[in-house]
Amino acid sequence: MSAPALRERRDPREAVATFAADVRYYLTQQPRQLPSRYLYDALGSALFDAICELPWYPITRAEMRLIRGHARDLLGGAELPDRLVELGAGNGTKLATLVSLGLPDGRPLSIELVDVSPAALRTAASAVSAVARVQVLTREATYEDGLELMETRRGKERVLVLFLGSNIGNFDPVGAEQFLRRIRRALGPGDALLLGTDLVKPEAELLLAYDDPLQVTAAFNRNLLVRINRELDANFELERFRHLAVWNPDASRAEMHLVSTGRQRVHIGRAALNLTLLEGERIWTESSYKYRPEEVRRLLWHCGFRECRQWIDEPGRFVLTRAAV
Ligand SMILES: C[S@@+](CC[C@H](N)C(=O)[O-])C[C@H]1O[C@@H](n2cnc3c(N)ncnc32)[C@H](O)[C@@H]1O
Repeated sequence: MSAPALRERRDPREAVATFAADVRYYLTQQPRQLPSRYLYDALGSALFDAICELPWYPITRAEMRLIRGHARDLLGGAELPDRLVELGAGNGTKLATLVSLGLPDGRPLSIELVDVSPAALRTAASAVSAVARVQVLTREATYEDGLELMETRRGKERVLVLFLGSNIGNFDPVGAEQFLRRIRRALGPGDALLLGTDLVKPEAELLLAYDDPLQVTAAFNRNLLVRINRELDANFELERFRHLAVWNPDASRAEMHLVSTGRQRVHIGRAALNLTLLEGERIWTESSYKYRPEEVRRLLWHCGFRECRQWIDEPGRFVLTRAAV
């Protein structure tokens, strides 16, 4: 049996105040938008897990195939890490698989799971604890705060940061570069980053991944309004918003929006905000940028990483890149 997971939680009042401030700021931008991290309350995390099971969402299966086929090399081959830090860990299945297949039995290791979703962290901690005798620390935090906390407890150990599931795709190009540079600054000699990136594929396939026939992705998207109603005392009428997925080829990104089906007024009590939405007006809730393998290598090199090694899943068109410092 491994030790019980150590938990670092956010102050709930502070979390709601930040959520309210972000909703107020982003919903009054043009175009109106909401940061995608707020999609992941407990129901949002469960819906995301369901999306991963959909036949139309190949990303998770593709990355899992790569992890199962190359676990030891992905972890570093002969140069195994002492500390794994996964940013946006979700349900932890990928990390649990990587550790169980790639790590020799009994090797000491510490694991930190960083995620904004407490529900995802609970699931991930038990998935990882089930496969290895390791100390697991869960941090309810944003990626940036998780990295900062990681740096405050640096020792001499070899660190591998994992950023899987194409989480990097949620950043725009400027944000992705800044964030990869931020990861690079947090790493030292002998450390590495394992980055999962979804690749450009035909438009019809991409649209099905973000607008599936069972409408699970639509529920995932619209649940953001349910969350705002519950946590911020708002009165969004769900049936007056429809889910929209768009492929933007110029920007190389899939977008998710919520479209107002008529002119309507919305009150968001805790954000002290009254909105008038016009018929057809959109709230942009997520971007998923798609890459080419050579773009990922170039970007990582540009951000100061060296020794990039890539594993590509052709059926799912997904790439894992291990970038050393
Ligand atoms: C697309 S899911 C991927 C989960 C997992 N990496 C995988 O590959 O299955 C994104 C995860 O990152 C978390 N997340 C999203 N934005 C975040 C942020 N800014 N900071 C920390 N966690 C975030 C979500 O709660 C969710 O669990």
